[in-house]
Amino acid sequence: MFDTHTPKFFGRRKGRTIRCAKSTLLEKFLPQIRISQQSVISPQMYSIPIKKMYLEIGFGNGEHLAEQARLHHDIGFIGAEVFQNGVANLLTLITGIKIKDDLPENIHLTEDRVDNIRIFDDDIRLLFKQIPDASLDKIFLLFPDPWPKKRHADRRFVNPENLKELARCLKTGGILRIATDHKVYKHWTLRQLHQCPLFRWTATCGNDWKHEPSDWVQTKYQRKAILEGRRPIFLDYEKI
Ligand SMILES: C[S@@+](CC[C@H](N)C(=O)[O-])C[C@H]1O[C@@H](n2cnc3c(N)ncnc32)[C@H](O)[C@@H]1O
Repeated sequence: MFDTHTPKFFGRRKGRTIRCAKSTLLEKFLPQIRISQQSVISPQMYSIPIKKMYLEIGFGNGEHLAEQARLHHDIGFIGAEVFQNGVANLLTLITGIKIKDDLPENIHLTEDRVDNIRIFDDDIRLLFKQIPDASLDKIFLLFPDPWPKKRHADRRFVNPENLKELARCLKTGGILRIATDHKVYKHWTLRQLHQCPLFRWTATCGNDWKHEPSDWVQTKYQRKAILEGRRPIFLDYEKI
């Protein structure tokens, strides 16, 4: 099990002041789908039948999470994000509410959605202890903060301690998907996973890590990386 000490978090928790519709969504809608460090993580968290559970760690602005959840009504998603502005953005995507004038009395998901997202708006490491062994089918870790300086290497999310926890939470055959556009983080991730006996890289040919997987959804972060000339890689690892 994950050590119960409170891990230190180094990223940003807040950005520009959140106003109007977004702050109302955080106040009034987030509590309906938020999970806490005490929540029991299971398919029963959702009000609809759920066949599988997926976790996205550090969902940023939420484009990937929102779209995957819209496409897969029988999958229950857990999204973890520390950055409050990102959480607020996800709420606008799933409710369709962008401006204060759009705010109805009761806030609902958009019509093409079901109740299949739960949000942990804190450091995912604080939730690990609540996630049962072999309960998740897929984990997305897309463009994690690279912390490229050598002296910050211990802040990188892909590390032996976290990999052990992710492997524990995944079912055998479950997938850990990692994408990164950062040169240092590419080598770091490949090395960390190569040294971890709990995962097997699913690559079938030398090139497939350069191509987006078939069920891929682009994010703002990825589009920015491509515009700036950085080529992302996509790594799927199977839990052995
Ligand atoms: C570089 S951004 C990428 C965001 C998004 N995945 C994308 O592709 O657009 C990394 C995100 O991970 C979040 N993050 C970093 N460590 C985290 C943790 N331990 N728990 C939850 N979120 C985390 C950060 O707040 C940040 O929003």
